[in-house]
Amino acid sequence: MAQQQKIRKAVFPVAGLGTRFLPATKAVPKEMLTVVDKPVIQYVVDEAAEAGIEHFVFVTGRGKGVIEDYFDIQYELEQMLRERNKNAELTLLAGLLPKAGTASFTRQQVPLGLGHAVWCARDIVGNEPFAVLLPDMIMSAEKGCLKGMVDLYAQTGGNVLAVQECDPEQAHKYGIVGVGDAVGEGFKITQMVEKPAKGTAPSNLYINGRYILQPEIFKILETQERGAGNEIQLTDGMLALAKSQEFAAYPFKGDTYDCGAKDGFILANLAFALQRADIRPAIEGPMKALIASLK
Ligand code: UTP
Repeated sequence: MAQQQKIRKAVFPVAGLGTRFLPATKAVPKEMLTVVDKPVIQYVVDEAAEAGIEHFVFVTGRGKGVIEDYFDIQYELEQMLRERNKNAELTLLAGLLPKAGTASFTRQQVPLGLGHAVWCARDIVGNEPFAVLLPDMIMSAEKGCLKGMVDLYAQTGGNVLAVQECDPEQAHKYGIVGVGDAVGEGFKITQMVEKPAKGTAPSNLYINGRYILQPEIFKILETQERGAGNEIQLTDGMLALAKSQEFAAYPFKGDTYDCGAKDGFILANLAFALQRADIRPAIEGPMKALIASLK
């Protein structure tokens, strides 16, 4: 197999309205809501960095300026921390800062859909394969989801989607893939169906918010008609691309939390807090007691 072009850039579409999380998202982008002590977006950026991503492309929108500030130096804060000898905090902040020139921000002026948001990154990405990470889906696993996808991509090339099992009864809520021949740790995708009618899903494997795509997707998205929800859908663009290119699936084995929904966000907080040695002892007992007291 020929050497594949490295996946260097990742797109984070953060321009959605977050209506499922109102009123919190009236003034705070959902990507900035905190899971334990980090904003949701930081988890996703960390996952991308672990996978070898070198350039982080944020597609922002109205009211999302705080995301840009978050990935910048805060001089006054850092000066204050220095004066107060808060060295651990300074080191923490420095470790999270992207290197100069490795973060780009572009604006989706109108939230016309995920497909449109990805298209807005076309000039920054250019003519090379790239990753897309939905920033409200955060994951917990020994090996990061995108890292696993990049490893599979090294074997398959083409396009790679991460998939995960769901309750078959819930398959109608997701984008579901059809399972073909095995390749490496994954398999070839035979079909993609967005929100299949009950009982018609080709599997119970849903697309969980991580994509490696070839740049030809941009040309398709440019003229993509609006689809479900009157939005320009990434899935429709991928279906068109699948007519001429291969798609493989990476079956992700960890846990995924949809932080764009209240229940997923609360579960993520509990799960990540329980993984923390500094927090678990203080919350485990009270959590068990709370559950035991449920009527
Ligand atoms: P979602 O549908 O989950 O996000 O889109 P949303 O529209 O913000 O959420 P609700 O349904 O109103 O609560 C998936 C991802 O695509 C981004 C969102 O920010 C989210 O990360 N997105 C969606 C855009 O960047 N632009 C859009 O036009 C639509």
